[in-house]
Amino acid sequence: MDNHKSYLKTLESNAIKSLETLQTLEEIENWRIEYLGRKGKLSQFFQSFKDIKNKNKNELGTIANDLKISLEQYYKKKINSIKSSKLKINEIFDYSLPGKPNISGSIHPTIQMMNEICNAFSSLGFNIYEGPEIESEEYAFDKLNIPSNHPARDIWDTIWVENTQELESLLLRPHTSPMQIRIMEKYPPPIRVVVPGKCYRYEATDNTHEWHFHQIEGLVVDTNINFANMKSTLFEFARLIFGEQTKARFRCDFFPFVEPGAEMSVNIKDDEWLELMGAGMVHPKVLQNVNLDPEIYSGFAFGLGIERAAMIRFGINNIRDFYSNDFQFLRQFN
Ligand code: PHE
Repeated sequence: MDNHKSYLKTLESNAIKSLETLQTLEEIENWRIEYLGRKGKLSQFFQSFKDIKNKNKNELGTIANDLKISLEQYYKKKINSIKSSKLKINEIFDYSLPGKPNISGSIHPTIQMMNEICNAFSSLGFNIYEGPEIESEEYAFDKLNIPSNHPARDIWDTIWVENTQELESLLLRPHTSPMQIRIMEKYPPPIRVVVPGKCYRYEATDNTHEWHFHQIEGLVVDTNINFANMKSTLFEFARLIFGEQTKARFRCDFFPFVEPGAEMSVNIKDDEWLELMGAGMVHPKVLQNVNLDPEIYSGFAFGLGIERAAMIRFGINNIRDFYSNDFQFLRQFN
C-alpha cells in the first residue's frame, strides 16, 4: 500500500515540476500524453489497479482519482497562461513604425481636363449636354451631310454594332458631332452648347491616336454668327486653358458638315504644333436637315480632342499612356 501511495506522490511532484518548465503548446501536449493520455502514466496505474490486493484499495482509488483531476487542472491553467502571454506579445503596438498608406483613387487626367474645358466654356456662356455613345447611321453621318458614298466617311466609318432588330444601322460614335443634330432638333436658336463624351474609331494607334478617346463638341447657332465669332471664341478658350501667352493657329480643313472648315492647332514648343480640334461654320445643308433656314440662321461648330488638350496641358507625349492603367503615370495627376 505505501509503495503505491509513494509512487503516486512521486508521480505528482514530477508531473508538476516538469509542467512548470514547459514553454510551448507542443511540449504541453506531449506532457498531457505522458501523464494523462490513454496510455499515459496514470492510465497505466489504473490498469494495474485491478491486480492490487489491498484492503485500502478504496482509499488508493480516491487518491489516484484526485491526482487525475488535479493534473488536469494544472494542465488547463498552463495552457491558458501560455495563450494569454502570446496575446500580450501580439497586442504590443509600436507607435514608431511607419503607417500603411491609404491608397486613394483620383480623377483621371482625361476627366480632369474635360471638367476644366467644360468650366471654361461654361464661363463663356455655353450650356453642357451629353449624348448616346451608340449612334445611328442617320445621326452619325447622313444628317451631318456625309452620304454613304462619300470618301469622307472612311475616317469615321468604323465600329458597327450588331443590331438584331435590324431597325437601323448602329455604331459606336466616331465623333460627338451627331449631337449637333440632336441639339438643333430639340432646341430652337439661340444655341450655345458643348457636349463632352467618349468616341471610338477603328484606328491604328500611335503617339497621338487612340481607338477610343474623348471629344468635346461645340455648337453655336443664332442670327448673325460669323467666322470671326468662331475664331475669337476658340482663341479665348485656348487662353483660358493653356494660359494667356498661348499661340493658336487656324488652317483650312475639310469636314462635310461645315463650310468653310478649319483645324485649330496649339503651339506646344518652338516650331511644334499639335492639332487640337476641327471647326467651321455649320454647313447650310446641315441647317436645312434640321429645318433651320440658312438665310436666317448661321452658326459654328467645333470638335476637340480632350486627350490632345491634356497632352498639351500636362506635357504628355504619348496618348496611349492614358489608358494603359499604369499607376506610376496616373499617380502624377492626384
Ligand atoms: N467631328 C470632327 C472630327 O471628329 C470634328 C469637327 C467637329 C469638325 C465640328 C468640325 C466641326 O474629326
